[in-house]
Amino acid sequence: MTTSVAVIVDAAAYARAVEDAVKASAAYYTGGTSVLDDDAYDRLVRGIAAWEAEHPDGIVPDSPTGKVAGGAVEGDVPHTVAMLSLDNVFSAEEFTAWTASLARRIGHDVERFGVEPKLDGLAVAARYTEGRLTRLITRGDGTAGEDVSHAIGTIEGLPAELAEPVTVEVRGEVLMTTVQFEHANEVRTAHGGQPFANPRNAAAGTLRARERAYTVPMTFFGYGLLALPATDAEFAGRLGELAHSELMARAAGLGVHTTAGTAVPGVTAGTAEDVLGRVKEIATLRAELPFGIDGIVIKADLAADQRAAGSGSRAPRWAIAYKLPAVEKITRLLEVQWNVGRTGIIAPRGVLEPVEIDGSTITYATLHNPADITRRGLRLGDHVMVHRAGDVIPRVEAPVAHLRTGDEQPIVFPEVCPRCGSGIDTGEQRWRCENGRNCHLVASLSYAVGRDQLDVEGLGHTRVVQLVDAGLVADLADLFALTREQLLGLERMGETSTDNLLAALDTARGRPLSRVLCALGVRGTGRSMSRRIARHFATMDHIRAADAEAIQRVEGIGTEKAPSIVAELAELAPLIDRLVAAGVNMTEPGATPPAPATETEAETGAETGESPAPDAGPLAGMTVVVTGAMTGVLEKLSRNQMNELIERAGGRSSSSVSKKTSLVVAGENAGSKRAKAEALGLRLADPDEFATLVAGFLD
Ligand code: IVH
Repeated sequence: MTTSVAVIVDAAAYARAVEDAVKASAAYYTGGTSVLDDDAYDRLVRGIAAWEAEHPDGIVPDSPTGKVAGGAVEGDVPHTVAMLSLDNVFSAEEFTAWTASLARRIGHDVERFGVEPKLDGLAVAARYTEGRLTRLITRGDGTAGEDVSHAIGTIEGLPAELAEPVTVEVRGEVLMTTVQFEHANEVRTAHGGQPFANPRNAAAGTLRARERAYTVPMTFFGYGLLALPATDAEFAGRLGELAHSELMARAAGLGVHTTAGTAVPGVTAGTAEDVLGRVKEIATLRAELPFGIDGIVIKADLAADQRAAGSGSRAPRWAIAYKLPAVEKITRLLEVQWNVGRTGIIAPRGVLEPVEIDGSTITYATLHNPADITRRGLRLGDHVMVHRAGDVIPRVEAPVAHLRTGDEQPIVFPEVCPRCGSGIDTGEQRWRCENGRNCHLVASLSYAVGRDQLDVEGLGHTRVVQLVDAGLVADLADLFALTREQLLGLERMGETSTDNLLAALDTARGRPLSRVLCALGVRGTGRSMSRRIARHFATMDHIRAADAEAIQRVEGIGTEKAPSIVAELAELAPLIDRLVAAGVNMTEPGATPPAPATETEAETGAETGESPAPDAGPLAGMTVVVTGAMTGVLEKLSRNQMNELIERAGGRSSSSVSKKTSLVVAGENAGSKRAKAEALGLRLADPDEFATLVAGFLD
């Protein structure tokens, strides 16, 4: 969390700091990319404020501390009531101090707080005249904003017509969800434009753009509802008396999108401790939200408390923003490495000038694929925006084009596989070594014999390297042909280790089809997809006989994935044949093959796209998520084994908690998933309760 302050030593440094801050905030409000990331901006403004506190006579008029940033432009539409900004706190202590000072000001504790996410977009005022959306205005400098009515119709959640013919102003945030942002950048770069650095920039740029050859959707979240001069006086009077939470319910009732339907709805809280509890919950859910938030806004809920607190020129005294650590920083892209994965995919990875994001030092970030690098126009030495939220792998979002010095160099794409020198299949977005999974044989074999696949005990990474180096193993099937003599001939392989390894390989021959399929490493099918395919088809013969249409009946396989799975299985056919010959099991215990589609079904498509009826069992029809460490009889089960157990008991396993989750098994030290389950009011079970529930299905 940022609490540090930029140190300003003299008036000249102060003037420079103000200039930098003004530039950065102008970029922020107009959709340009600031040279400062949010953290750096906050630090600078704090430094400016500190200097001003010591030198009150030296304050310059355009200091970011004294006015609402943005700057009004001629032709702007005046706001009927100023659109204020918010003051910030950065810690629980600062928040508690704020509640205390607010209580002193109004003469009593705040009756009730509203707690809601601080949406990371830009503020707009939407004017409705007798229920019809007539005007859309940006915040501008707070007293007047730019008319952006041309954007009406491109913003989801801001209906053209309200449910009642009232004259009101709805205030809220326009942003792009992650999906909208990706779409916007795709469309923009396809039209020859530079990609936006982040969703916030994209929303700001898109909202203000007038003559574009294309439109891209954005999303609105309302957080304020007020009367306009033309509002019916009695209605205006009633609105003025409503608590913030009541106004939000009213807005939602009128058809305006609010946070109500999201994983982080606005709630009310009675005490500062309750508020802080909710702040934690929202912070935990942040990484998984489909839109960006940069903090939590806490408001005195009652109109009377708000009136008593009043407002300063910049921000209301009855509300505060509790800022969360930034998830984005600007740093430099130093190098691009091309790594070959176990299936032969050649993936670019950016080496960064180390940068701290939310407490971790980031030195690498994914660059997705070559087409993506080209689309983003990245160059070596570029300043880039890096995004990292939660445990997700950090990613490079976009270059900060105006920080270019001219010394940046093009990123060179490999012409041959950087690992084995074979040709590269560039036919798909993700490039692949023509040698496929034989290129990085050690990686593909280590994966195949790993705990969640064939689980061959005693066959660790070093041993795999040894076998490959000795030329004994060139693919997965070779493992099952190893002889006692061959193994004994290896260094550090005694009689006991040899016999143990042969026994372990023999055990591995009997693993269920789902494990064998997963070991093959078909692209796009991990552990859970392999289980679904194996349960659906029951035997390898049925899987191999399936065409793209048939394979699409497996839940989660769409039109894109199906043909590539079919193609890859065909590619793997010789290997599968040799595995069969080596005695490897190719059936899934307990599963029955699908009945061939009848003609009527095939004609009407009645059953197409559906997975077979869920198996009977205590978890039939349920989606179950496991989180935290298991205890009791479940203690030794890996996450994969827990998921296998769930599926044996008729359920569906999932790794992410959502409204659709039926049960969350929360073990020791369960973190964000448990918090999310609680926030969503889902059913929770501890490992012992769950073990009882599925008792008949434990191995
Ligand atoms: S209330 C008078 N509520 O944050 C109260 N603002 O840093 C001012 N924002 O200008 C606005 N989410 O653009 C409010 N739930 C929320 C918000 C929110 C995001 C933005 C808004 C405001 C800025 C202040």
